Amino acid sequence: MTIAVYPGSFDPIHNGHIDVIGRAARIFDRVIVAIANNDAKTPCFSFEERRFMVEEALQGYFNVETDILDGLLIDYVHKRNAGVIVRGLRAVSDFEYEFQMALMNRRLGGEIETFFLVPSEAHTFISSRLVKEVARLGGEVASFVPSHVKKELIRKLL
Ligand code: PNS
Repeated sequence: MTIAVYPGSFDPIHNGHIDVIGRAARIFDRVIVAIANNDAKTPCFSFEERRFMVEEALQGYFNVETDILDGLLIDYVHKRNAGVIVRGLRAVSDFEYEFQMALMNRRLGGEIETFFLVPSEAHTFISSRLVKEVARLGGEVASFVPSHVKKELIRKLL
């Protein structure tokens, strides 16, 4: 049984994340979506708000669960007996950071492998940062996020 952890800020979850989660759920026995803080970013939504949006978006995925990760990713991966870290790769611009993180986690974690999954090209330009910017400025985000996330974005940002 292979357990995969898909970590991310999910601030908020968008259709590109959901695409990657669907792909991971077809490959691995169990997928844990781990909502974490990225030291380089100040989150707009609290852990609980992000968890609510992720859980709503993932209803119907029987082998996917959601959790909050408040610490070192690699420690969490060991604690959950997972063998794999999943990350999405949208474009070459993601590569350097992802490569660095994968190697750091390998150095810290030994046996843990990082799997990169590529979302549908329909989602490759979507990022949480851009979705928040568009929403804050009154733009339409319905094609980037599920409807409940759009509602939360409007409530929080407008
Ligand atoms: O969605 P993001 O912001 O690209 O996700 C980055 C995230 C949260 C996966 C990364 O910052 C992380 O792993 N944070 C947990 C703390 C940690 O282990 N940092 C060292 C990573 S090598």
